[in-house]
Amino acid sequence: MATATAHPNIALVKYWGKQDKPGNLPVSPNLSITLSELTTTTTVSAADGNQDAFWLNDVRVEDKKVDQFLVHLRERFAIENLQIQSSNNFPTSAGLASSASGFAALITAINAHADLGLNAVALSEWARVGSASAARSIFAGFVALVPPLWRAQTIAPPDHWPLHTVVAVTSTATKSVGSTEGMKRSRLTSPFYKTWATSGSDDFAQASDAIGQRDFDALAQIAEHNCLKMHAVMLTSQPALAYWNSATVACMEVIRQLRAAGTPVFFTIDAGPQVKAICLKQSVATVEQALQDVAGVQRTMSCGMGPGAQVTVP
Ligand code: PMV
Repeated sequence: MATATAHPNIALVKYWGKQDKPGNLPVSPNLSITLSELTTTTTVSAADGNQDAFWLNDVRVEDKKVDQFLVHLRERFAIENLQIQSSNNFPTSAGLASSASGFAALITAINAHADLGLNAVALSEWARVGSASAARSIFAGFVALVPPLWRAQTIAPPDHWPLHTVVAVTSTATKSVGSTEGMKRSRLTSPFYKTWATSGSDDFAQASDAIGQRDFDALAQIAEHNCLKMHAVMLTSQPALAYWNSATVACMEVIRQLRAAGTPVFFTIDAGPQVKAICLKQSVATVEQALQDVAGVQRTMSCGMGPGAQVTVP
């Protein structure tokens, strides 16, 4: 039996779209911060019966992505049937990157349980097979997933620039269109998809520079721009992928007002209605209070920069 933990990551330069070839490869370079506090904990042991069994938050579930992932893994390694128990201390499948922390924790636990001998780079490559964003959750701090090998790597450790993320939860409903299907829809139908895909490299370079120089305003400008471009692609897909609700929009407005009044903070939003406000430690209380006051915000959660995936019970 082995237990591993991993944390979600929030992309400041996002990918939305996959290459048309095997390996779950993003269409453009992307860059994230790994969060602390929000945690997936996964325990893997030998299955009692003659098939795999997966429990998510104490409920036995069939998960096609997990099944497919195990099929791929067994093409390379002889792994017995597994009992997998995974739990999140945050809402699952609602745009909080639970698949990123989920696959990062899963491969880390399987590696320890089945003694596969994978190092961090290989763990990250396997995590990417489950969900491309999961490749980033293997690593701590500021993490890039870049061509040509599409291997994730830490470009700056958490203490380089200890940013904080305040998550405003505006709905805990499971998202209606998952990211794999949504990305395919955007690739096939959004008139802006090509521009989005080709502009990713410039956004990545600008964000990397801003992080290197700890230039908050520059990072705020490029991260919000990149996020809004992705949502422009989503909204112009057919049928439209509209992940926001009215509280999402209200949170964006509050964050803009805070920034205009001198609080360094910017927003980013993934394939769900939650708003992530990135700020410095001294502004966390102000940002949390302002977001809690927004109608429709159910709760806020505050996270620092997190570590990579870890085995907790070998
Ligand atoms: O790799 P997935 O299936 O978790 O999709 C991630 C999609 C976004 O969160 C919207 C963007 C990103 O780069 O994390």
